[in-house]
Amino acid sequence: MNSLIDKYNIPGPRYTSYPTVPYWDESTFSPEKWKDSVIRTFNESNSKEGISIYIHLPFCEALCTFCACHKRITKQHSVEIPYLESVLKEWKLYLELFNEKPKLKELHLGGGTPTFFSPANLKTLLEGIFETVEIAEHPEFSFEGHPNNTSKDHLQTLYNLGFRRVSFGVQDYDPKVQKAINRIQPFEKVKEVTEWAREIGYRGISHDLVFGLPHQSWEAMEHTIRKTMELKPDRLAFYSYAHVPWVKGVGQRGFDENDLPSGEEKRRLYEDGKKLLEDLGYIEVGMDHFSLEHDDLYQSLIHKKLHRNFMGYTSSNTQLMVGLGMSAISDSWYAFAQNVKTVEEYQKIVEEGEIPVVKGHILNEEDLIVRRHILNLMCQLETTFDSQNSFPELENAFEMLKEMENDHLVEINDNQIKITEKGRAFTRNVAMVFDLRMMRNKPETRIFSMTI
Ligand SMILES: C[S@@+](CC[C@H](N)C(=O)[O-])C[C@H]1O[C@@H](n2cnc3c(N)ncnc32)[C@H](O)[C@@H]1O
Ligand code: SF4
Repeated sequence: MNSLIDKYNIPGPRYTSYPTVPYWDESTFSPEKWKDSVIRTFNESNSKEGISIYIHLPFCEALCTFCACHKRITKQHSVEIPYLESVLKEWKLYLELFNEKPKLKELHLGGGTPTFFSPANLKTLLEGIFETVEIAEHPEFSFEGHPNNTSKDHLQTLYNLGFRRVSFGVQDYDPKVQKAINRIQPFEKVKEVTEWAREIGYRGISHDLVFGLPHQSWEAMEHTIRKTMELKPDRLAFYSYAHVPWVKGVGQRGFDENDLPSGEEKRRLYEDGKKLLEDLGYIEVGMDHFSLEHDDLYQSLIHKKLHRNFMGYTSSNTQLMVGLGMSAISDSWYAFAQNVKTVEEYQKIVEEGEIPVVKGHILNEEDLIVRRHILNLMCQLETTFDSQNSFPELENAFEMLKEMENDHLVEINDNQIKITEKGRAFTRNVAMVFDLRMMRNKPETRIFSMTI
């Protein structure tokens, strides 16, 4: 296995989109084209499957020095109301594009830290949105809660508003790791919020764990997993630490590269961690995620309904996802768009009555074909080519896969590719073979984290 890691551990995208953000072609994009694409997708899909909304709530009280999310650190809670007012204004700008009431199927509050905001303010925001939509049957509403500041009132308020899923950021319970990442978070705190969520009636409770953090040993990882098992979350994210200190605004500091586990050690954290999770009854779903059998995530995997977007894996899928808030990414299937990345710019543009998208990509026919295959690989670990969904470079891609076939990472049968159990950890590498945009324009500088 070690030699495979040496061979395949290269910088690569996580494929929450195709094309991946660094390969978006700005020359094809404009806010006008984005709006046209939103209108087209809304008209095609609202009455059938409905739409999704993602709201980015960027504030955190303290910086966790491993964090790669778009956030703003502040202790000033006076920022809450003006920010939420901007989000509602941005939503109104989208409403102007729609010719009927949107049917809201999925809603996710991410960040930053959604639970930085008071329950009352979150209620005002959500009621402001709900009064403009029809809520779909079986809606999927979820949020990210920081265990250190999620109160019972947050959980109850959001439950009353229809939320049934919550993910708590845990990362690691080892004191040395917690110190290095500036995130002191006792197990008792996580236990308390998890138990409150369960008592209130949440049915999809998830914990985020991260492997490859500074000073993380297998003993620390094992301890973290065993403590997590005392609380038995319905699902788990088991993320590979993405070390991207060159990305502007990320602020990864407080440790240096020598404090990070080596490639081989990191791999062991994943391999042994995965084995332990499986022994404890969890099933790996796609990449990075594990779920108990009863959970929707696993059920959507076996019913071939699993989907992947900027929020990671989801058990339902809508063609239109409107991202609100600074840095939020939206997806209309035919196009992507990202909002401006600072709170000030975001609020200014929204005040001027403009949808605050700054960059994006309009997918061409070829992108749509590749997007589908990469999604199939990431979600179902297999994909099939036929005359309708091929492209000229396919021969070349199959040639590159031969090496992975020899290494037993994939099985190739005629035009079908299946990722093997051994190949799962290399799913990003398999997807990269089909990433035509990256292939044609190999990055000169480092833009992605390592695949493993
Ligand atoms: C927005 S945070 C979760 C909500 C809340 N802010 C918290 O920290 O609990 C989302 C998750 O992203 C993951 N994450 C952040 N930075 C990461 C990195 N550099 N590599 C891997 N995962 C990361 C963490 O597991 C984190 O819990
Ligand atoms: S991990 Fe969560 S709380 Fe920490 S800085 Fe990132 S978004 Fe904020």
